[in-house]
Amino acid sequence: MIEKHVALTDFVEYPPQQMLMRAQQNLVQLQRRHSIRMFSERTVDQAVIEQCILAAGSAPSGANHQPWHFVAISSADIKKQIRIEAEAIEQAFYAGRAAETWLNDLKPLGTSADKSYLEHAPWLIAVFSQKKGGIMQDNETANYYVHESVGIATGFLIQALHHAGLGTLTHTPKPMSFLTKICNRDPDNERPYMLIVAGFPATNATVPEYALHKKSLAQISDFI
Ligand SMILES: Cc1cc2nc3c(=O)[nH]c(=O)nc-3n(C[C@H](O)[C@H](O)[C@H](O)COP(=O)(O)O)c2cc1C
Repeated sequence: MIEKHVALTDFVEYPPQQMLMRAQQNLVQLQRRHSIRMFSERTVDQAVIEQCILAAGSAPSGANHQPWHFVAISSADIKKQIRIEAEAIEQAFYAGRAAETWLNDLKPLGTSADKSYLEHAPWLIAVFSQKKGGIMQDNETANYYVHESVGIATGFLIQALHHAGLGTLTHTPKPMSFLTKICNRDPDNERPYMLIVAGFPATNATVPEYALHKKSLAQISDFI
């Protein structure tokens, strides 16, 4: 493709005071995001999920190849299939497949093999990464920085869902290959990357206190 540039017309600059205020407000909004494991069965309009997937699709990616695909699942039957597969994997995980240290690290979160939220939540969004495809999606052109790109897009997706007023959970049963089959995706070119559970938190939802502890600015950064 030939290089062609267009004027940057949608950049918005804010006065310094407003810039700081916006950064602080964004932080406060993001600090209200928590991984939710107790979902209400209340439905959420597909239109909302579509906008959130478009937000994810606006993420930067290696050579702009956008090496991702999102399968949004609301079908009760498919959610049930996913729960059955995920719980079988998680049972093996908690019964000894995971290292002792990993299981110990999970204890403060109170997670278990029970994944009933996979059926209760109105939407499951299976995120797939694509080895090849390029912008033309020809399944031939190499993709670059696939893991990094899909990670950023998934972050955008979680942020968009949170911004829309929904609770989310990042769920990563290991292995996740069953998602390829259930979602009818190409096993040669695509890998299931993450499963994002989205919906309203149950009215009695709780979050593990342990997850509220975030590292301080000094711990996570240096300014040099
Ligand atoms: C890559 C990744 C995988 C995760 N996998 C799971 C999972 O399989 N099951 C689960 O209950 N939580 C999972 N989580 C959620 C984390 O436990 C959670 O993000 C962490 O405890 C911090 O809590 P917070 O999201 O409320 O800040 C995962 C998070 C990430 C980023």
